[in-house]
Amino acid sequence: MSKQIVLERQGEIAIIKVVRPEALNALSRSIVDDMDALVEQVGADRSVRVLLFYSEGSFAAGADIKAMSLCDEEGAKAFLFTPTYDKIQSLPIPTIAVIEGYAFGGGLELALRCDFRLAAKDAKLGLPELNLGIIPGAGGTVLLPRLIGEAKAKELIYLSKTVTGAEAERIGLVNLAVEPGELLPTALQWAERLRTRSSLSLAAAKASIENAIANPDFRSAGKTEGELWAGLFGHHDQKEGMAAFFEKRKPSFTGQ
Ligand code: CAA
Repeated sequence: MSKQIVLERQGEIAIIKVVRPEALNALSRSIVDDMDALVEQVGADRSVRVLLFYSEGSFAAGADIKAMSLCDEEGAKAFLFTPTYDKIQSLPIPTIAVIEGYAFGGGLELALRCDFRLAAKDAKLGLPELNLGIIPGAGGTVLLPRLIGEAKAKELIYLSKTVTGAEAERIGLVNLAVEPGELLPTALQWAERLRTRSSLSLAAAKASIENAIANPDFRSAGKTEGELWAGLFGHHDQKEGMAAFFEKRKPSFTGQ
């Protein structure tokens, strides 16, 4: 594993950080290969309850243009980050992209795969690939319209427009934009609130929402939701959540 990506732990919260400041944390193929291995590790570790992606100074200024510029069509297919990003999106735990500096191209596409995006008000976000004669290739054209609507997504992608964190909050691209100094503490507060929820309920809610987005038919999505809902009964966390309600206390969930 290169030293350009690290996994840090704060108790049950894991943080994946890219450390390539000389290139504004642009994502090389080898960084994404290492990210893939770290995501596998996090996915297999039941003690991790929340995963943050946070890189100091710049979230990621996109895929590595220098390496990409040498690719032919076959090389470009091999360069794609999609399998790793799919893995991130499939994690059953909540994920948060914590964005300062630049989240461009493949960097913003990584953030789009997370459950939440928190940004510094002065961060800059965009999918500028058309400036390079290509299009977003790791989920940007698929996920951005879902989040901010087709018209605004086309505006950002066709014109390579960038938005600040503050503007990104206004258009629904990020959940929250805060003063730069408050970003990481705010993200850790979100993570802490998520950490104490039932991991079973969180996983079921995430599975139902992802399924409903992928299969929007109301009846079939509703059927899946009902099955996930019923599946929680009989688990400790459901008994504990309801007992705590009657006993007028905070529930203590175990994920069992
Ligand atoms: N890949 C490789 N190197 C990059 C990079 C990238 N995406 N972004 C920045 N860098 C490097 C620069 O080449 C520069 O290196 P040198 O000092 O060796 O020249 C260093 O980082 C600092 O960058 P700048 O001097 O350009 O810094 P700036 O403050 O003037 O500008 C910036 C910052 C606006 C982010 C500018 O660097 C920029 O536009 N970067 C490219 C952003 C981009 O187009 N991203 C999308 C990539 S395509 C993609 O991601 C495809 C996909 O769908 C997967």
